[in-house]
Amino acid sequence: MTNPHTVRKRSFVAAAMMSAALAATMVLPDLALAQSPIVIKFSHVVADKTPKGQGALKFKELAEKKLPGKVEVQVFPSSQLFGDAKELEALLLGDVQFIAPSLSKFDRYTKKIQVFDLPFLFDDLDAVDRFQNSAAGQGLLTSMTSRGLLGLAYWHNGMKQLSTNKDKLQRPEDVKGLKFRIQASDVLEAQFRALDANPQKMAFAEVYQALQTGVVDGQENTWSNIYSQKFFEVQKTIAETNHGVIDYMVVTNAKWWDGLPADVRKGLSEAMAEATTYANKLANDINEADRKRIADAGKAKIQKLTKDDLAAWRKAMEPMWKKFEGGIGRDLIDAALKANK
Ligand code: LMR
Repeated sequence: MTNPHTVRKRSFVAAAMMSAALAATMVLPDLALAQSPIVIKFSHVVADKTPKGQGALKFKELAEKKLPGKVEVQVFPSSQLFGDAKELEALLLGDVQFIAPSLSKFDRYTKKIQVFDLPFLFDDLDAVDRFQNSAAGQGLLTSMTSRGLLGLAYWHNGMKQLSTNKDKLQRPEDVKGLKFRIQASDVLEAQFRALDANPQKMAFAEVYQALQTGVVDGQENTWSNIYSQKFFEVQKTIAETNHGVIDYMVVTNAKWWDGLPADVRKGLSEAMAEATTYANKLANDINEADRKRIADAGKAKIQKLTKDDLAAWRKAMEPMWKKFEGGIGRDLIDAALKANK
């Protein structure tokens, strides 16, 4: 027969073990936090030697310097971790903590952001910069928090050029009937339809092959993307249209960000501000240098456009402003126009 004293002793031991285990589970996460760095994954789709690639690497360097032992930033370029079809979902699921999609890729989350896709709205990258730094532009950074996305900064790439696998690319009629790869944006889809061309939404990582195999005839992008992805090797003509912009919003998961220890959030905010200044200063130079590399390679012809040519492109594309005004809001379009000075 079991001695009641032994039973009491056993249950006392069991209870003591249970509360020790409970205490350990409550204390351990804190200890773990104090000892091992918070791993922050920053995923993007372009090469390291592009404005966004350089910005991400600078952010890593600064964040780890400001928060030694507290954070480890892992940068995954060139769609290695997630391509642009998946990166926004991955951020919301917590599989990655920072991404910097092109502004064209957010229109599922807010229609207001379509302002950046309106063709010929901004005169140049300086105007884009002024708009982004205005109250209206800054307001867009927090316009998707109800969808779980918090914008921390705008990063520049540059103005878009149009390329095709045809010799002639000077006027809107030259793209009639051609197939174009576009980013996942309804404005860009409508823009190419207005040119009587056939737009096809496609992830960035698939574009080179689609151009090479003739799945599409052309695309629109910045010099740095055309160079680093080697699009110039599989296109015949690149027209200097500067008809729109590819810039980025660095976004994080709003809930994850709010849950960070205050000192970490502060350090990361400072690192982001400094990396932004750094990357935005580089963007123009990288695009200019890549334009020259493409010209020197002599594979694709760079087609300069006259004032009349540009006016024709503008006339063909400008109806997008009215078409999308309802979702964007007239106030935002006016604020963008004001930034042209
Ligand atoms: C594209 O899809 O063409 C660009 O948005 C890629 C990028 O991130 O610059």
